[in-house]
Formats: sequence, C-alpha cells, structure tokens
Amino acid sequence: MKDKIHIPVLIKSIISNIEEFGINKPKIVDATLGLGGYIKNIIASGIGGSFLGIDCDKDNLEEAKKRLCKERENIKFSLGNFRDISEILKKNHFEDADIFLFDLGLCSTHIDDQERGFSFQAEGLLDMRFSKEQDGSAYDFINFTNEQELADIIYKYGEERLSRHIASEIIRRRKIKKIETTKELANLIQDVYSHKGIKRSKRHPATRTFQALRIAVNDELGALEQGLSDTIGIAKTGVRIFVISYHSLEDRLVKNIFRKAKKEGKLKLINKKVITPSAPELAENPRSRSAKLRIAEKL
Ligand SMILES: C[S@@+](CC[C@H](N)C(=O)[O-])C[C@H]1O[C@@H](n2cnc3c(N)ncnc32)[C@H](O)[C@@H]1O
Repeated sequence: MKDKIHIPVLIKSIISNIEEFGINKPKIVDATLGLGGYIKNIIASGIGGSFLGIDCDKDNLEEAKKRLCKERENIKFSLGNFRDISEILKKNHFEDADIFLFDLGLCSTHIDDQERGFSFQAEGLLDMRFSKEQDGSAYDFINFTNEQELADIIYKYGEERLSRHIASEIIRRRKIKKIETTKELANLIQDVYSHKGIKRSKRHPATRTFQALRIAVNDELGALEQGLSDTIGIAKTGVRIFVISYHSLEDRLVKNIFRKAKKEGKLKLINKKVITPSAPELAENPRSRSAKLRIAEKL
C-alpha cells in the first residue's frame, strides 16, 4: 500500500461535539475505520475512552492496526461490514457504546491504488470491491448485467442522463470483447459523450458512471440503510450517532432515516443544518469538498 496520508474529514467538528457531549472516557464505535484517522485524532485530543474499529477492507484494517500500534491497548478491531453491526457489537461487547461514527464510502487508499480499479484516471482491472473477499466485482457487473439493469443503475446511482446510451454501448462492445479495464470503460463513456456532441465539462464524463458502479458493487446504500437503522435500534438513550456522507444519494438516505426515527420519537437531531468543511479544511484537503456531517442523539 502506498504511504499516502488520508486526512480525516471534519475531525475538528467531531471532536468538539464529543467534548461538548461531556461523557468521561466514552465507548466509541468507528464503523468505517479506514486508516484509523478518527480514532488517532480522538485519542490525541485527550478525550480517551475505548474503541471498536470496523472495516470490511482487510488491507485498510491491517494498515490501521499498524498506524494505531501505540494506542492499541484500548482498541478492538473487527473485519466486517457495518450492515452486520448488531452481530459485531455483540461479539465485541460494544452494544453499550456511547458514540457511533460512520464516515461513508471509499478511502484515499482505494483511489490511489490503481489495482483496486476505482479510478478512471489510472489503468487497472475493473474491480471496485471494498472487500476482496466479496463475490461480484465491477468486471462482473459490467460484463454480465442485462442492458436494462445496467442503464437503471447508472441512472439511479450516478444520476447520469446518458445512462441508456452508455448501457447500450457497453452491451455492443462486450459482445465483441469483454470490458476489462478502467480505461476501456472510461474511453467508452467518453466516446458516447463525443458521439452525442457533448463537450467536456470540468468533470470527466466517466465520473457519474464510476460512482454508480461503485455504489452497486458494494451495495453501499443497502448496507447504510441496514447498518444505520440497526444502530438506531440498538443504541441506548443518549447515544450520539455521527454520519459523514459524500454524495447526495447517501446524504438523502441518512436525512430520511434520521427524520423517520425522529418522527417515531427515537432520535433528536443535534445539528438542524448539515455541517460542512470550513474554508481552511477545504484548502488543506480538497477531497473533503462534498462532505456533509449529520449528528443525532438517541432518545
Ligand atoms: C472514508 S473511509 C474512512 C476513513 C477514516 N475515517 C479515517 O480517518 O481513516 C471509509 C472506510 O469505510 C470502509 N467501508 C465502506 N463501507 C463499509 C461497510 N459497509 N462496512 C464496513 N466498512 C465499510 C471502507 O473500506 C473505507 O476504509
């Protein structure tokens, strides 16, 4: 794994909110451990407490263990998907946690490692699985899904208006030869755009389709719905749940789950307006630009 630094997004807002919350030595679940940036910063802030770090990506989990080797004493690590959070909490005796953190989506390591096949800017085999143990990669999805479903997914998860044209071109080309690499797919999408006479905007035309594929391959919205709903169900009164999302589909889902739980009298919203990165954070970490933080408290 390349030693790129992943800068934890909105960490200052998270820490100040935990401090305001005022629990002495809280029990904290980081459901998306990544490289352990949140836990490292929370410990460094002096909040203390004990931690459970969950990630479905074995490489990231192992890297986090290394990066947190000095702090390991109070941290448990669990390889797993947060859609199974109930089981994971039970197994690790963390059902009584005080704080849950969800920092959704992919990590910089996924983008930077071209072999993981997430980036259309680097050549790699179409993969995009967060967990290498999972069946069904982007290659399988692109080469074996029927045209209607492909178009629907690209439209629904990518909000791509040329979804039908892209799906139809995928079908046409894969009959001649399977589509194997990120560049092949990115060039195909570029060709569809050029054929339609659409000039390049600031974003590469493949951005939306790649987002859609990633969401579908990892069933990101399904895992989020299950994991967040179960967390709300399990959490004891007073528990705070932090969710950071990076695109509108994710944020809408979080907003709706929180709203529903609020209506049912299970939650109160801590921030009425979403929290976004400050100008200095954006300057330091451009990857944080689409981040939105929502915080809720279990009633
Ligand atoms: C944005 S990164 C988290 C970065 C972390 N906050 C840090 O500061 O290092 C998201 C991480 O969540 C993991 N992940 C995504 N979906 C997951 C899921 N359903 N269950 C468990 N881990 C997941 C990814 O593998 C990735 O490592």
